[in-house]
Amino acid sequence: MKVTVAGAGYVGLVTSACLAELGHQVTCIDIQKEKIDLLQCGRSPIYEPGLEPLLEKNLRNGQLHFTTNPHKAYSDAGIIFIAVGTPETHDGSADLKYIHVVAHTIANYIEQDVIVCTKSTVPVGTNELIQQIIDSRKPPNLQVEVVANPEFLREGAAILDFFHGDRIVIGTNHPEVAALMEQFYLPLNIPIIKTDIRSAEMIKYAANAFLATKISFINEIANICEHVGANIDEVAYGIGQDKRIGQHFLKAGVGYGGSCFPKDTKALVQIGGNFKQRFELLEAVINVNNRQQSLPVLKAMDTIGSLHGKKVALLGLAFKADTDDVRESAALTIVKELLEAGADVSAYDPIAIPKARKIVGDAIGYTEEIRQALQDADLAIIATDWEQIKHLPLEVYLTHMKNPIVIDGRNCYSLQEIKQFPITYLSVGRPGHPIVNDKFE
Ligand code: UDX
Repeated sequence: MKVTVAGAGYVGLVTSACLAELGHQVTCIDIQKEKIDLLQCGRSPIYEPGLEPLLEKNLRNGQLHFTTNPHKAYSDAGIIFIAVGTPETHDGSADLKYIHVVAHTIANYIEQDVIVCTKSTVPVGTNELIQQIIDSRKPPNLQVEVVANPEFLREGAAILDFFHGDRIVIGTNHPEVAALMEQFYLPLNIPIIKTDIRSAEMIKYAANAFLATKISFINEIANICEHVGANIDEVAYGIGQDKRIGQHFLKAGVGYGGSCFPKDTKALVQIGGNFKQRFELLEAVINVNNRQQSLPVLKAMDTIGSLHGKKVALLGLAFKADTDDVRESAALTIVKELLEAGADVSAYDPIAIPKARKIVGDAIGYTEEIRQALQDADLAIIATDWEQIKHLPLEVYLTHMKNPIVIDGRNCYSLQEIKQFPITYLSVGRPGHPIVNDKFE
């Protein structure tokens, strides 16, 4: 099957590489020439474990092509996947300008019947709009069917998720189109859910909103645990054993970030608002998350007072481990607040520094050496649970820092381990070390 993927961002690249690996002839198109030039050399513009070898292999064996040329991309495609960005606008709603451009371009360049699958996260009704745009411009003899096919890939685990996802959602009002798409995805052996278009669109928003809700919920429980002397690790495990709750997405921390949860939760609030259906629960989830991102700096100030002139080692810049993505990363909120407090920040990250530097500039120092970040620091804040941080011997805080004070926003260390060291350690939803006062009195 000749497949075209519009958009060489996260979803587009992973989809392209994985579909090529499955044996399809894949052409990925993007308007950014520099990106396409890089990709044609087998180099990935994003860090994603396992992606670059897949790109290289499938470029070499001729299964995968990159282009900026819409004629090459669309004229003979059997299936087109739309995977362009839907960034946030000033009011929180999704900006559909790239979707519009792609729909127009598809209509102008197709030369045979085609199925157009939308992987981008789009508000309910958008796929019908895409259908209208294409229908109003395409050659009248051609048949185009637009399918909502939302994507659930996680950054850092995207290849694994593509081949071993929990489900594939196919949203179309035409059973024969659903059957064709089911056939297309059959080799993956992943459960397929066939729905109408609007439900498929809603499934994506509802899934992300629910996962974000779980995170804000557990963070709220963690914050109460800190006051009552309970331990969030035990509490999360204890509730997660209930199958109705489940164990996943109950890790308390610095709040969620990334390219999806912050954007999609705001967009869903906006969608509800458009119909005067206020989504109060999700508004609270967003507020809790914003507050959670500020807790490490508040804890730092509680512990050492003014941060003015203090050297702070910030461990991690990426919004989570195994990605170089810093979009909406809690680490960036922490940087902003530390700078406002007059701290001198030295940030460590194994791969996200170039992307962070584009946003933060030279207001902070950067290093790919944890020890260098910790050298002579008055305080360390852990923002990302990189393996390199989790496996850092605790002695290093003692040998390198001026004062071994660690605010761990990701609960990287077990309290058992910490107890063996004279380190002041505050994590999320767990008793601090040393226990200064019993807040449960
Ligand atoms: C998410 C969805 O998981 C994915 O299905 C969708 O397609 C895109 O959005 P992603 O943003 O890549 O994926 O990362 P994810 O692993 O879901 O984590 C999102 C954020 O939540 C991260 O900042 C992470 O650190 C945080 N998180 C996650 C927690 O704080 N606690 C948890 O228990 C889980």
